[in-house]
Amino acid sequence: MIPKRHYLRPVSLFATIIALSSLQLAHAEDGSAAWLRYAPVATAQYRAVPTRIVPSSDAPMERAAAEELQRGLNSMLGAHTEIAAQSASARGAAVRLVLTPGTSPEALDSYTIDTSASGIRIAANTPQAELYGVFHLLELIGAEQPLPKHEQQTAAAGIRWTDEWDNMNGTIERGYAGPSIFFENGHVRQDLARAGQYARLLASIGINGCNVNNVNADLDLLTPAHIREFARLAEVFRPWGVRLAMSIDLTSPQTVGGMSTFDPLDPAVAAWWKDKVDEIYRAIPDFGGFTVKADSEGRKGPSQYGRSPADAANVLARALAPHHGVVLYRGFVYNNHLDWNDHKADRARAGVDNFARYDGTFEDNVIIQIKEGPIDFQAREPVSPLFAALRRTNVAIELQTAQEYTGQQRHMVWLPSMWHWVLDTDLHADDRSTPVEQIVTGHSFPLANGKPRRGGFVSVTNVGMEANWLHHPMAMANLYGFGKLAWNPDQPLAQIIDRWTRLTWGNRPEVVKLITTLQLESWQVYEGYTGPNGIGTLTNILGYHFGPGIESAERNGWGQWFRGEKDGIGMDRTANGTGYIQQYPSQLAAKYESLATCPEDLLLFFHHVPYDYKLRNGKTLVQSIYDTHYSAAAQAGSYVTRWQQLHGVVDDERYEQVLRLFRFQAGHAIVWSDAINNWFQRISQIPDAQGRVGHEAGRVEAEAIIGSGYEPVDVTPWETASGGKAVVCHKAEGCTLAYTFSQSSGTYDIAVQYFDIWRGVSRYELRRNGEVVASWQADDTLPPAQFDANPDGQTSTRFTANGITLHQGDKLELHAIPDLRSELQPGVPHKAAPGELESQSRTPRDYREYAPVDYIEVTPSVHNVK
Ligand code: GCU
Repeated sequence: MIPKRHYLRPVSLFATIIALSSLQLAHAEDGSAAWLRYAPVATAQYRAVPTRIVPSSDAPMERAAAEELQRGLNSMLGAHTEIAAQSASARGAAVRLVLTPGTSPEALDSYTIDTSASGIRIAANTPQAELYGVFHLLELIGAEQPLPKHEQQTAAAGIRWTDEWDNMNGTIERGYAGPSIFFENGHVRQDLARAGQYARLLASIGINGCNVNNVNADLDLLTPAHIREFARLAEVFRPWGVRLAMSIDLTSPQTVGGMSTFDPLDPAVAAWWKDKVDEIYRAIPDFGGFTVKADSEGRKGPSQYGRSPADAANVLARALAPHHGVVLYRGFVYNNHLDWNDHKADRARAGVDNFARYDGTFEDNVIIQIKEGPIDFQAREPVSPLFAALRRTNVAIELQTAQEYTGQQRHMVWLPSMWHWVLDTDLHADDRSTPVEQIVTGHSFPLANGKPRRGGFVSVTNVGMEANWLHHPMAMANLYGFGKLAWNPDQPLAQIIDRWTRLTWGNRPEVVKLITTLQLESWQVYEGYTGPNGIGTLTNILGYHFGPGIESAERNGWGQWFRGEKDGIGMDRTANGTGYIQQYPSQLAAKYESLATCPEDLLLFFHHVPYDYKLRNGKTLVQSIYDTHYSAAAQAGSYVTRWQQLHGVVDDERYEQVLRLFRFQAGHAIVWSDAINNWFQRISQIPDAQGRVGHEAGRVEAEAIIGSGYEPVDVTPWETASGGKAVVCHKAEGCTLAYTFSQSSGTYDIAVQYFDIWRGVSRYELRRNGEVVASWQADDTLPPAQFDANPDGQTSTRFTANGITLHQGDKLELHAIPDLRSELQPGVPHKAAPGELESQSRTPRDYREYAPVDYIEVTPSVHNVK
């Protein structure tokens, strides 16, 4: 189980004094420092690093660079470094920071590091590049790497932003680590210390822009009062070279301006935007620009007036241009009321269908922000063909660090593996090599509207108030990896994860080896137990996007269909089907169109094939699905025992957090794998050749046990509970499941699969011949009630008691006390759900949890004996 989260909240002066006096201890390893821990390193190879820093100037960013350098060197090398006056004499060894601005304002950030007998020289073309040079030097030392004699680094692209989907009420859409660090109660937070720390983290990986609010923007965002508040946020970003940006709603001329229209071609609307943008720049002179979600998922847009995305983007762009601001207009425009019965309908087509014809008509400060794949951040999708369709328009790639469809920071999934695969995909536009990374960095098609192209990388990140930013101590590796790939998409993955691990967990070889190995395998493991052969993540797409909910994708207007029918499965996107494949340039289209050449990890995205279709490995599709799911779930399970090797080697606090989460993932991977395998077996009517599906070893269904008090219930969807059923208890004194152990005597792991519904706290006790061998509380904060408060794939959770000695004939009992509180009682703790606010209203129903149980499974022990 995951412990209750501890948010950072404003504290009283007294509490602050206490906290400060124990700062070292309290914040020792809570993850808040992320990769900027500056832990002491083996100093031998850094003896020559001078202890005098000569800053380039006293301006805020340059000052921040010098102070950061001082902080890092002192902490890692145990040095007493001084910052000299800027005019300090050229003589004597020093680390010199030098700013040599170029002539073009559009030049990409670039720095050099030179080491010589007289010290180290970091020369940069912009103040933020100076910061990047400093962070790079500190990173090399932190990771115990040799310092270069000469190294030059230049950013691959100008746009290196994060998007945060924070609402002004303090919640975060698809945020999994507590409330917003920027907003509360409809305003920018009073205390912006954490926002400043975040900007520092962003700067340390080369990120230069942060859009702080949800793409589904608050409608009153652009009031003068709010703009003044946003200016405070921009202030704490500024020393770190992070430009503040905002998502805006296109209806603002109406909702804020009181106008009767928001038609982008209406001159009065254009004038309103111009005035509004001028007002923003008066408050925030380095404002980055706007992100726009329009005509998508219920947001209004230019289509209301028969206008195009170019009309809408350009009216904003013209207002922003004099101030060097940009518009990131999202390519995520689609109809979510598609006709399921129409076999030509296809959501994946929407990007190209809605944008390609406007190529070349966007202003040169408009950048089309395109999600990596044509659907929505699935565990694997082909890359969006829109990247190749826009040859004369700026584009940026939108990646998602927030693990919306990839385990929501409760499963470890290192996404840079996927992003690298995406960025490397060669679209072969015009029959030449045009990998996605070359397109978004402007190399494949150098001009947009006649001007040098600009583009880049955006990560939807959604950090929260939980101390470690993203909940899972492993999850910040995704943000770190994003920054590194945005700076240099060619940086090897192994190097990125090696550096992150050393900086975050230390340089001990066994630590580095284990963590990098686990992270590097994690994407394919997750894909292996959640979504086979390009079908997409088979999650409950109508709810929280977390656990399995397979058919939620079918028979509705959302268009995430995979068309699982009796005859076979997969979307036919060939020329005979939806024709989507034809949106790719011809070479790639030919590869995807033919079953002989279509990559099998994307097979079901492009083709409808029978369940007994033979894959290249000789297995049938369905058998391969069974095998992959079992082996991937087992591999996820192995994280627990592998991690246990680091007990006592890494700090206890983060060790325990990771252990708990790995245990959770191990159990939830089984939920996933069972759901998918059972579903495939039922729909295909082809049994698993190894007879495992539906007959898991050592498993006893709760509904099959004679229980005292427990009542059986159907679980919806059926595949998310073993046997489609669970049991629930409505009795205040509790209920018991009891059965006689019939396997041979030995040491066993006893797993109890139960459902941990948000809010209620049921209590469970496992007994052997009347003696309690384990007890726990169902106190997890799984999906909030507004999404889901039922026993199903989102809430199914496993508790395992390891290494229990059992004899044939032993009486095993599970005794559970449900939580029947109909309302919050004073003094009784309650749980806050991810992103939930204290002030959010609660309904009495929220607190009840009927101690639901799915099954008990007893298997020979593989874990450490307790
Ligand atoms: C997904 C996500 C939404 C989000 C949308 C977007 O559909 O589930 O929460 O608003 O993407 O990217 O705009």
